[in-house]
Formats: sequence, C-alpha cells, structure tokens
Amino acid sequence: MLNDQEPKHNVLTIAVASGKGGVGKTNVTANLAISLRKLGKKVMIVDADLGLSNIDVLLHLAPKHNIQNLLNGDMPLKDILIDGPHGIKILPAGSGVQELTVLDEFQRLRILEAFDSYGDEVDVVLIDTAAGISENVAFFCIAAQEIIIVTSPEPTAITDAYALIKVLHTRYQEKDFRILVNSVKNPDEAIEVFRRLSLAAEKFLNLSLDYLGYLPYDESVQNAVRAQKAFVDMYPNRPITRRIMEIAQSFLDHTGKVKGTLQFFIGNLLSASSGAGRGKR
Ligand SMILES: Nc1ncnc2c1ncn2[C@@H]1O[C@H](COP(=O)(O)OP(=O)(O)O)[C@@H](O)[C@H]1O
Ligand SMILES: [Mg+2]
Repeated sequence: MLNDQEPKHNVLTIAVASGKGGVGKTNVTANLAISLRKLGKKVMIVDADLGLSNIDVLLHLAPKHNIQNLLNGDMPLKDILIDGPHGIKILPAGSGVQELTVLDEFQRLRILEAFDSYGDEVDVVLIDTAAGISENVAFFCIAAQEIIIVTSPEPTAITDAYALIKVLHTRYQEKDFRILVNSVKNPDEAIEVFRRLSLAAEKFLNLSLDYLGYLPYDESVQNAVRAQKAFVDMYPNRPITRRIMEIAQSFLDHTGKVKGTLQFFIGNLLSASSGAGRGKR
C-alpha cells in the first residue's frame, strides 16, 4: 500500500491556480521554479493545463511526449520528463490536445504511482493549472500541499479568484490559500486587492487568506515571453526578479513547518479522487 511506506523524502507540492486565464500563472510557475532551483532545490514542473499547455512554449522546449502518454500508460514518467532551464524537470501537457474530460480514477492512480516512484529525485513540484474551476483543477489543487492563487488587479480576475477559492473551500474543505497579486502598479495596489479578496473570504466563507506577495507590472515579462525565456534569466536585476526570488525563499522558510511528504500528496490525491475529505498536514 502506498500509504504504508515510510516517508522517504520531503517533497513540497505547490499548485498555481487563478480562476481567470491570462493573469500570469504560467509565468509565475516557470519563474518560481527557476528561482527555487537557484536556491538549490531540485524542481519539477507539472503542466496541468491540459487544454492550453504552454510551459513548453514559454521555455522554448519541444517535448516529444507528454502527460497523455502517462495517462495512457504508454511510458514511464522518467521517459516523458524533459529538461528545462537549469535542469528543471518538466512534465509537458502537450499543446493542441483538447481539454481532457475529467481525469478518471485510473488516470489519477497512474499519476500517483508515477510521482511516488519519482519522489526521491525532486524537492519541489510546481503544478501549473488551467483557468476555470474544472474538476481537474480542483484535483491538482487539493492534491498539493500549497495553493497559490494568482490574480491581477482587474475586478474580473479578483472575482474569478474568489469563485475558485469558494469552490475549493466549500466543496473540498480547502483552507489554505496564498494570494499572489500580479501585474500591479505598486505594492499598495496589491495590498488593496488582497484586502478586497480577504474581506469577501472572511465575510462569506469565514476563511482567512494568506498574502504571499506581489509582482509588479513589467514589460520585460512580455519581452521574455516573446524571447521564450524566463524573465528571471533574461532580467536577473529587475525588481520583478527580486520579488519572485523573495517569494521562492519564503516557501523554503515556510517549509520547515509543513509536514509534507510525497505520501501526503498521494493520500490527498486518493481522497480527492474518491471524493472524500482530505487529510493533509
Ligand atoms: N507581471 C507582468 N507584467 C507584465 N505582463 C505580464 C505580467 N505577468 C504576465 N504578463 C503578461 O500576461 C501574459 C499571460 O501570462 P501567463 O503566465 O501565460 O498567464 P496564465 O498562465 O495565467 O494564462 C504573458 O504572456 C505576459 O505578456
Ligand atoms: Mg497558463
């Protein structure tokens, strides 16, 4: 049994979600991954945006295989993973594959088994999720130990972030959300966005949210996207790079307190797939 195994190695799993598309999830995932790598961690990115995968495009990679091969049972995870910048391992989603229907039990189990067998090779797993509030998004969020909710200051993005939090809380009892406000003019704008979101969460869900930080609006992000490079690599001295490095560091400071192992990830995935409650931490 998976859950009977001795915990081997602490793996921190972080899902990056948003509700609305286009708010910066993929950029946050890729650049946070590289920042964590620069801090000495072995990192894997799971592109779980099964409909519109783009981690590979963002980082100028040409994967031969993708998560579909894992789900079909065609290939082992280690043969599907590709090397991204700085030796980050990437599980691509496969561009152009239309959004999968909801992952079935079998496919969820295949994912679990694959991660279980890979647990010693990696310290942090970052999961880039799709926009919207699909069951697949919920599955990956619930499975992870940490959920980053990315929003921009746009009212539509804030509303969609709230809607996602609400579903994950009311339907799946998720309580821990770390809010990252992207594309802000200044830190005050980020605080104001966080305040609005957390007021709503407190009032209607009786839930208190955590503030993870902000990233400034910076045209160099668009330049980096066009160049198919991560902005932390292309612009190592920009304020946005310093901010994301700080955010990466805060995860490592925080991890000491989190009793997370890959077994938790698996336990959570199993309870999520069976529709039961969760038992993390
Ligand atoms: N901090 C930022 N400053 C300026 N533009 C940004 C910033 N973050 C994201 N963008 C722009 O938004 C686009 C969408 O970002 P992306 O990470 O692909 O969003 P998502 O994965 O949420 O759909 C990027 O291609 C980039 O042009
Ligand atoms: Mg994306």
